Amino acid sequence: MRLDKMIASTGRWSRKEVKQLVKEGRVVVDGKIADGADAKYDPEENRIQVDREVLRFSEYHYVMLHKPAGILSATEDRYAETVLDLLPRELQKLELFPVGRLDKDTEGLLLMTDDGALAHRLLSPKHHVDKVYYARTDGPVSEEDCAAFAEGLQLGELKCLPAKLEILSAGIISEVLVTLREGKFHQVKRMLESRGAPVVYLKRISMGPLVLDKTLEKGQWRYLTKEEIEKLFNLK
Ligand code: URA
Repeated sequence: MRLDKMIASTGRWSRKEVKQLVKEGRVVVDGKIADGADAKYDPEENRIQVDREVLRFSEYHYVMLHKPAGILSATEDRYAETVLDLLPRELQKLELFPVGRLDKDTEGLLLMTDDGALAHRLLSPKHHVDKVYYARTDGPVSEEDCAAFAEGLQLGELKCLPAKLEILSAGIISEVLVTLREGKFHQVKRMLESRGAPVVYLKRISMGPLVLDKTLEKGQWRYLTKEEIEKLFNLK
């Protein structure tokens, strides 16, 4: 495969940018500075570095985004900004999509990928991937609420799976952690509202083994590490 095509496939640089990197001598193949963007190499055999970083070539891409409030968990919308708009153009072209949705006003961890099979596994109720949310509520929460969550709340027609409610601080404004194994529409908000404690702030902090990176500011993203990707694939 051509060097420029191979490096652009990481989604981090355009073909034009790769040509520039090569010109600037920042691309190294098997220890030697690459002298042409059109030379052909094998992503399995050759060791390609950009600015000393060894590149990994995988068919799919996995990105952790710290979603801010006010942005839609969608890939396109006529009027509103979407989470895809927060990624650079090179990644947008790869058609990444969010794995599960967060409400427009919810913040926190959002995994974005172009790996449909992994997304399907993570979202399937069969695999029971725990999602942990931090919430602030306008109203008190009690041990009784924790017991009701553990039992499985009935929300109209919906019988929720047993969930965990942990109280971090109880008062007029309470702080809680909610752990869910499912992800129905507005579920955390509806669960807490049904207990008389409507949510005023919601943030997802983890999804299965994936924990929101504290160094990511709202609106920032990074690639998952090799270890994080392995953990996702090792989920039962
Ligand atoms: N539950 C909600 O109510 N909103 C979200 O965004 C995620 C879970």
